[in-house]
Amino acid sequence: MAKSSVMYQCSDCGAQSPKWAGQCADCGAWNTLVETLSVVPAGGKTARFAGYAGTTQPAVQRLGEVQPGQETRIPVGMEEFDRVLGGGLVAGSVVLIGGDPGIGKSTLLLQALAAFSARLKVLYVSGEESPEQVALRSQRLGVDADQVCLLAETSVERVLEHARRETPQIMVIDSIQTLYTEVLQSAPGSVSQVRESAAQLVRFAKQTGTALLLVGHVTKEGTLAGPRVLEHMVDTVLYFEGDAGGRYRIVRAVKNRFGAVNELGVFAMTDKGLKEIHNPSSIFLSRHEQPVAGSVIMVTMEGTRPLLLEVQALVDDSQLANPRRVSLGPEQNRLAMLLAVQHRHGGVQMSDQDVFVNVVGGVRISETAADLPVLLAALSSFRDHALPNNLIVFGEVGLAGEIRPVPNGQERLREAAKLGFQHALIPAANAPKGGIEGMEIHAVTRYTDVLEWFTR
Ligand code: TYD
Ligand code: MG
Repeated sequence: MAKSSVMYQCSDCGAQSPKWAGQCADCGAWNTLVETLSVVPAGGKTARFAGYAGTTQPAVQRLGEVQPGQETRIPVGMEEFDRVLGGGLVAGSVVLIGGDPGIGKSTLLLQALAAFSARLKVLYVSGEESPEQVALRSQRLGVDADQVCLLAETSVERVLEHARRETPQIMVIDSIQTLYTEVLQSAPGSVSQVRESAAQLVRFAKQTGTALLLVGHVTKEGTLAGPRVLEHMVDTVLYFEGDAGGRYRIVRAVKNRFGAVNELGVFAMTDKGLKEIHNPSSIFLSRHEQPVAGSVIMVTMEGTRPLLLEVQALVDDSQLANPRRVSLGPEQNRLAMLLAVQHRHGGVQMSDQDVFVNVVGGVRISETAADLPVLLAALSSFRDHALPNNLIVFGEVGLAGEIRPVPNGQERLREAAKLGFQHALIPAANAPKGGIEGMEIHAVTRYTDVLEWFTR
């Protein structure tokens, strides 16, 4: 029989120590020792606590001999949620849903569970809200949640005990940070507690075929609180995006073992919970009556649908020794790089200017197609020169000052044409041979071409 005991492990080098210390004795890193469980097998030698591997000894097989079972997909019945999941929940899979507080994680999951509960046995484990609060919410949502089983509990061992008895097909844990395991002494929410609790739950899901949805809180930096480790342990990671004050919410798949990543589901928060937006291409556009300087419309293609977004920039004389470069949406380092390209290859000097970039609607853009729109918005604000408001822009900018093509150029152009845009500034390699009806295309190959077009 294996015996488990508490150990402290350095998160940098992996060295173990029986006692906590401020500095790792092996690699000298500070504040890296975290509480973990170590399993001492009957044989004696200490082994690191194994993830969620089964206990049976698997034999070596040839890949060709393995007969994959058909994965059982359970569609939620909410089209936008199913889309990010890759067509529904997979039995025995574990989905992690991250997002800022108050963005709608509990709301979405309660709605999904209510939709499931007509067909399947579901269990909602709440560590944050009392059963009364959950009931109140379900009344407000106006969903039929009578069949949803509810458990207010924070000990993983007791949660699993109930789950083994109830045998739900779908279980929601809201949230993983409130759970704790009795074998560790650290406080709930600490790295070791979150990791160990999640490991036990994941093992349960794999053994019983229960589909598990975990809610995870996000830190100020925008990553899941505590461990990135969680992202490795689960099958699918979904993030909520959008301004908490705004109306729209985006759920994005950043990891999916059963579907495509970067797929988006779009919802609107209403007084009756989250409503699906089936045709989101233009909801993030705030069309200005008059063209304004610093505003550029881009077409992004995150997942399988084109989405039109407004990129705004403000370039202003800086009072600081180190002018600010602030970017909400595109990545900060990318902005610094783009401004360097603009200076080196276009001769546009912004080193004494503060540069702020924002994407309207709180959407995060990770694709490089935003490069050209960001640069153009900055240039437009800097020169105080408004671009026509029937123009769309996309394209990647390389360090050598070249404008590189992006995937799915035609689909982006067609979507923009459908919404009435008449001009497009795009990489030459993306320009369709036959053109696009109703749209004038300005193809560019180098950043100098962009400047020429801008000042013409
Ligand atoms: P919630 O799901 O509790 O967020 P999370 O679990 O991610 O912390 O969402 C709460 C917010 O959503 C809250 O600010 C109120 C708002 N809301 C609505 O606007 N309409 C509704 O029907 C519900 C249930 C919540
Ligand atoms: Mg919540």
